[in-house]
Amino acid sequence: GIKGVGRTHIEAVRALPEEAELVAVCDIDEEAVKACAERYEVPKAVTDFEELLEMEEVQAVSICTPHFLHRDMTVAALEAGKHVLCEKPMAVTVKQAEEMVEVARRAGRVLGISFQHRFRPEVGVMRRLVEEMSPLLWFVWIDCSLRTQAYYDSGDWRGTWWGEGGGVLINQAVHDLDLLQWVFGMPKEVLGSAANLLHDIEVEDTASAIFEYEGGARGTFVAGNVSYPSVYRVQAGLDGGVILFDGKIRVGRAKERISEFIKKSPEMWGVPEVEWEEPEIPEVERKGHVAAVWDFLTAIKEGREPLCPGEEGVKSTELVNAIILSTVKGGPVSLPLDREEIEQTYEDLKEGKLRLPRFWA
Ligand SMILES: NC(=O)c1ccc[n+]([C@@H]2O[C@H](COP(=O)([O-])OP(=O)(O)OC[C@H]3O[C@@H](n4cnc5c(N)ncnc54)[C@H](O)[C@@H]3O)[C@@H](O)[C@H]2O)c1
Repeated sequence: GIKGVGRTHIEAVRALPEEAELVAVCDIDEEAVKACAERYEVPKAVTDFEELLEMEEVQAVSICTPHFLHRDMTVAALEAGKHVLCEKPMAVTVKQAEEMVEVARRAGRVLGISFQHRFRPEVGVMRRLVEEMSPLLWFVWIDCSLRTQAYYDSGDWRGTWWGEGGGVLINQAVHDLDLLQWVFGMPKEVLGSAANLLHDIEVEDTASAIFEYEGGARGTFVAGNVSYPSVYRVQAGLDGGVILFDGKIRVGRAKERISEFIKKSPEMWGVPEVEWEEPEIPEVERKGHVAAVWDFLTAIKEGREPLCPGEEGVKSTELVNAIILSTVKGGPVSLPLDREEIEQTYEDLKEGKLRLPRFWA
């Protein structure tokens, strides 16, 4: 797939000439793939993915196609002996994602998932702070932005159960769910509520969820494609104080553990002493897809895992599936999810036997 994010992968590989050479491009759109090969001086352009997999000079592939193709294309590429960098979401269902991991393991090939926000230095800082200030008590994670109807109308696969496998959750918010679980860990229970408020599509454009963790911590997650100006904000309460993130990070460190202070303070309205800090965000050499592609390529060379290996991609897929399953069941669901129940639920959504709540469109 070379039109949308595929182009970003092409440019990332070209930005890393020491690490890899772009030997072929593939897209079902013949005119577009030929023009792409010409523009970027790529030796081969093909319209059949199988043909690409037969090329010996191809050692690794980027899968940049619509969601419903990710599993089959990744499995075929791994079985043909290629390393794979698959775009997010890894797959539509957790069962498909696990199958991809299993095939990669059997084939002895690297499977990386393109969650480039993991390379943002502030995410690394958040992970360090959460570890220092843990245990977690609560968080609120909001990522609300906007997509027009024209966006959904730009491709037949968009905004559909068969093609995209969902709406804002599986496409945009899956980035947040990946970071959320990377920073705070996987919950044990999910209470989700997804709906379509403003778009003429069958999938959700708005979703909320409450995550319950082992030990009792609670997290609230809100995502949507119906808001502008966009709101991106994470706030967390930990035993060591609070972390606020809205582009920059502010930390209020309590001088005593909150759990201890609550027990020990003799004062009716007592609060612990707090020290505010604004941690420095380190500069990084590579950003976005260049960082993700570089990491994937060097992981192959060094025989190590990429920063987001297939096993990690499974987790955000499971969280997306959990919010949808909880919505259709009307109650909380426990993790790990029943894989077959998820398969059936997505089949029923595709066939229109199950529907999400729909409002104004
Ligand atoms: N990581 C990110 O930030 C990011 C950003 C955008 C898109 N994506 C992901 O990338 C994927 C593609 O999204 P997009 O926005 O680029 O979509 P798109 O529709 O713009 O591009 C998909 C491309 O795949 C091609 N294609 C379709 N079927 C094919 C097939 N059988 N064989 C070869 N090519 C085929 C299409 O012709 C098209 O060029 C999705 O999984 C999306 O979620 C990720």
